[in-house]
Amino acid sequence: MNDPLKAEPLKIGVAGLGTVGAGVIKILKERAGFLADASGRTLVLGGVSARDRAKDRGIDIRDVRWFDDAREMAKADDLDVIVELIGGSEGVAREVVELALAHGKHVVTANKALIAHHGLALGRLAEEKGVSLNYEAAVAGGIPIIKALREGLAANEITSVVGILNGTCNYILTEMEKTGRDFTEVLADAQALGYAEADPSFDVGGIDAAHKLAILASLAFGVQIDFGGVHIEGIERVTATDISFAREFGYRIKLLGVARKTEAGIEQRVHPALVPDTVPLANVMGVFNAVAVEGDRVGQVVLEGRGAGEGPTASAVLSDLIDIARGFIVPPFIVPTARLAPSRESPADTHLGRYFLSLAAADRAGSMAAITRALADEGVSIERMIQRGAEKGATDRLPVVFITHETQEGTMQRALAQLMQHQDVAGTPLMLRVEGETR
Ligand SMILES: NC(=O)c1ccc[n+]([C@@H]2O[C@H](COP(=O)([O-])OP(=O)(O)OC[C@H]3O[C@@H](n4cnc5c(N)ncnc54)[C@H](OP(=O)(O)O)[C@@H]3O)[C@@H](O)[C@H]2O)c1
Repeated sequence: MNDPLKAEPLKIGVAGLGTVGAGVIKILKERAGFLADASGRTLVLGGVSARDRAKDRGIDIRDVRWFDDAREMAKADDLDVIVELIGGSEGVAREVVELALAHGKHVVTANKALIAHHGLALGRLAEEKGVSLNYEAAVAGGIPIIKALREGLAANEITSVVGILNGTCNYILTEMEKTGRDFTEVLADAQALGYAEADPSFDVGGIDAAHKLAILASLAFGVQIDFGGVHIEGIERVTATDISFAREFGYRIKLLGVARKTEAGIEQRVHPALVPDTVPLANVMGVFNAVAVEGDRVGQVVLEGRGAGEGPTASAVLSDLIDIARGFIVPPFIVPTARLAPSRESPADTHLGRYFLSLAAADRAGSMAAITRALADEGVSIERMIQRGAEKGATDRLPVVFITHETQEGTMQRALAQLMQHQDVAGTPLMLRVEGETR
């Protein structure tokens, strides 16, 4: 066995010293002995960069070389790896990663937006230079899903990847179910607790989950990342009433990322969906994330854990660093980028599934019959229905929900358009897909 102290150390520069950056430096320091034994060489912090040098970050970096400009650090001759923990798909983060790769340095990043938008070009550059571009922390935080797809499940043809990929949304939906409070109120609480950003639109609008899903779809199906091909809906329109109706039917509402291979191409969707409460994803609560992968040989594998936060995210960054220290350098998207096929989008309107429709019906005799007739006229057949009495403050409207039999999405969209103009329907109905049922 090699003596780690005799081997060439791996010299690491960390750009961005916020939540994740500080967490990475803590592990490098606190587990230095184990990391050296596990990698066969020492992992040395050789440079750091952030905006404010004077900020107290709870880490001792007095002896580490400071760079005012992270781009200069990315070019420094005496560093082997740059860890990019600044964030954002453009600007300094992108420049740092491009410069580091161009200068023949390995890169580790937690930046899903950057990989979702520029992963292919960055991956090509990494391959040209013979270095790693590792991003385990970019998807589902502490859950080792990238390694699972790249290594443990690599022998399988993957048919679907379905995940709860945004802890903020899962926390909000869980709290709405537990307390019966509505979205806006629970979001404000989540912001106060630090579970949601001041600008929550990337999270609650489904964009953050879509970045992660696009990366997973590429790895799972051997295609180029196609963020533009992800159909995205957020959780903003889901109400506590919808959640309680879904519970009565035996489902939970979750923001899901769904990537599925079909004969027509690849489906990539992020949206709130009804999940039967008997399947593992339905029971992933609070800020937790989970990913269910379906492989032709292995069947279903479900991984669950913390999708964000200092410890879990830094844990994933360190796993990438250990790979590099061990000399395990692989193409960033499992197969060489030149072998990745363009992603062929499966047309959304041919998707076949069951749907949940929630609407407010006018409180008049015959309104329900008129609404169900309108659905039947469009070819939508109803399996179950619940109607409740008028809610406080809206005595002229009756909440009603339907679960349909299997229907094509195009048919549902036409029915929805009819309902939006129907004289007995108030406001815009909410249509959610049912996912995760065995057919
Ligand atoms: N936080 C999580 O739980 C989590 C989970 C998964 C992935 N990620 C990803 O990890 C990355 C970092 O997230 P974070 O939560 O650690 O962010 P953060 O706490 O906001 O930290 C960002 C860091 O970047 C530094 N920075 C900003 N602009 C810079 C510039 N122009 N040059 C050099 N440094 C600059 C900041 O410097 P100052 O401190 O001096 O202001 C700060 O130290 C993001 O890509 C994020 O999406 C985060």
